[in-house]
Amino acid sequence: MNIRATDTKAVPTGFAPASLSDKAATYALDAAKSIGRLAMRRVKRTADVVDSEYNLLHWQRTLSEKSWTRSASIVDFIAPRNSASDLRKVDNQICRVAADDYYRYRARALGELLARYTGDATDIIELGAGCGVNLLSLHLNHPDWRLRGFDIAPNGIAAGREIAAYYGLSDRISLDRIDLTDGTDPSYSAIRDKVVFTYFCIEQIPYDVRKVVDNIIAARPKRVINIEPTTELLNFTSPRDIVSFLYIRSVDYQTQLFSTLDDYERQGRVRILARDRMPFAPTIHNDGFLYCWEPT
Ligand SMILES: C[S@@+](CC[C@H](N)C(=O)[O-])C[C@H]1O[C@@H](n2cnc3c(N)ncnc32)[C@H](O)[C@@H]1O
Repeated sequence: MNIRATDTKAVPTGFAPASLSDKAATYALDAAKSIGRLAMRRVKRTADVVDSEYNLLHWQRTLSEKSWTRSASIVDFIAPRNSASDLRKVDNQICRVAADDYYRYRARALGELLARYTGDATDIIELGAGCGVNLLSLHLNHPDWRLRGFDIAPNGIAAGREIAAYYGLSDRISLDRIDLTDGTDPSYSAIRDKVVFTYFCIEQIPYDVRKVVDNIIAARPKRVINIEPTTELLNFTSPRDIVSFLYIRSVDYQTQLFSTLDDYERQGRVRILARDRMPFAPTIHNDGFLYCWEPT
């Protein structure tokens, strides 16, 4: 495929849909792995587990490797050369796609998706931003946006700040600490009247979903866009959704966010503006669903 590595607009179009036999074999293997996880070592996703998976492992590695210092551009950093092909969801189709092709496509797709829900806001906040990879993707598509990320993981925040500084973006992209489960966290004041989004963050807080939603509502953001996986909205007549259900249960991701928001809409606490399913995902087992809502 002929793509310029520094341009997310130069995304290959027309990824070929995966064959039936490829899908069947991949779904079966994925389901077997999830069943194995459920049977062998049931994960209970507590704050300590999240800290060891993200702060102490993932973001610590990102911080120590500093791969951005060896990347010629932001796109090279967020979509490093990697030809490992896998089944992924691209424009609502399951395709076999190389990792670097997917992540270049994803950077643009995320920018287009969020822009559909942010209205005319240019001050955008991500809660649970990790080291800010989504913020970098959004910057590529919307260089006029001022982007702020918050996360609980010190190593993610430190990496995000270094990355922003390295690309000369410290005035456009900032990272700070928040604990979303703590309604008294002073960083909650930053989201007042702002458009905020979460992206595969509340999935990590299954033990406190309602509290996090309550805290966000109490902080009075203008609008919230939650992009999170869940079991709540899966269609159990779809083989892939059964694979997703097994995966989500086996890693103990959240399963109440969207029913909580539906409930709060019935109570008149929030107004849901859009419900959607993500058109892209890096695997077959973990699509995000999207709710866009405002506190009433
Ligand atoms: C799966 S990562 C997603 C990161 C980022 N949204 C992305 O897509 O690259 C989940 C993030 O949620 C953060 N997180 C988990 N619990 C949190 C909490 N109570 N408050 C704030 N962030 C939290 C983790 O530290 C982690 O960085």
